[in-house]
Amino acid sequence: MTEGRETQSAMRGIFVTFEGGEGSGKTTQLKLLAARVRASGKEVIETHDPGGTAIGKEIRTLLLDPGSAPIAAATELLLYEASRAQLVRELIVPALGRGAVVLCDRFTDSTLAYQGCGRGLDLSLIRQVNRFATDGLVPNLTVLLDLDPEIGLTRCRRGARADTSTGLSAEPLCWDRIEAEPLDFHRRIKEGYLTMARENPDRIIVIDAGLGVTEIEVIVWNQYIRYQDRDDDAVS
Ligand SMILES: Nc1ncnc2c1ncn2[C@@H]1O[C@H](COP(=O)(O)OP(=O)(O)OP(=O)(O)O)[C@@H](O)[C@H]1O
Ligand SMILES: [Mg+2]
Repeated sequence: MTEGRETQSAMRGIFVTFEGGEGSGKTTQLKLLAARVRASGKEVIETHDPGGTAIGKEIRTLLLDPGSAPIAAATELLLYEASRAQLVRELIVPALGRGAVVLCDRFTDSTLAYQGCGRGLDLSLIRQVNRFATDGLVPNLTVLLDLDPEIGLTRCRRGARADTSTGLSAEPLCWDRIEAEPLDFHRRIKEGYLTMARENPDRIIVIDAGLGVTEIEVIVWNQYIRYQDRDDDAVS
């Protein structure tokens, strides 16, 4: 599948997404990259999908709250896409247009992994709805944090305690609706992500999320710089 849209190349900013299973370190690494890019003098927007807008925040609560009524897979897909459609138009595209670096915790690949490989919805249908919701916007770079789901889920369970001491996580971790799915579900997500990475080697960087926080931080930074330099060469 080819990615991209004609107008995207006209936008000056850089769009980076963080993907991976539960507890793989997405939020931790997003914040570390944000600090480095900001220190380099660029405007940085940190956001997450679902969420990131007033409407998106409401939808996120519906989607992740374990107290929500059971949600059909089709409803779940459309709620994620509704939140994304708003996020792209209200926040991401305007920011990229003015040259900001936008860092987004999860994006379209999450839907392919969770609703496609996890829930079993048709992947080509998801790609179509993704394209509609994003108006064809594709990340310039995607950091895929690859981790054994058993390790990730263990990190999540003890995360809330650890986070108050490290201050690394952007949000309090909770045992949400997705995390409560069986291990098999999470294994399908991991495999789905790796397949996507093989299909999009120029965009998706796979990192062993079992490495230390700082080791991963340096890998992510180097990949970001590589992309930025490549991008600078392309416009000069
Ligand atoms: N490389 C790492 N090694 C060990 N622990 C880590 C590493 N990266 C993050 N952690 C810890 O694991 C927990 C989960 O990290 P984080 O919240 O960044 O993951 P996440 O992918 O955003 O999780 P979620 O899917 O729940 O949003 C936190 O307690 C964090 O401090
Ligand atoms: Mg997170």
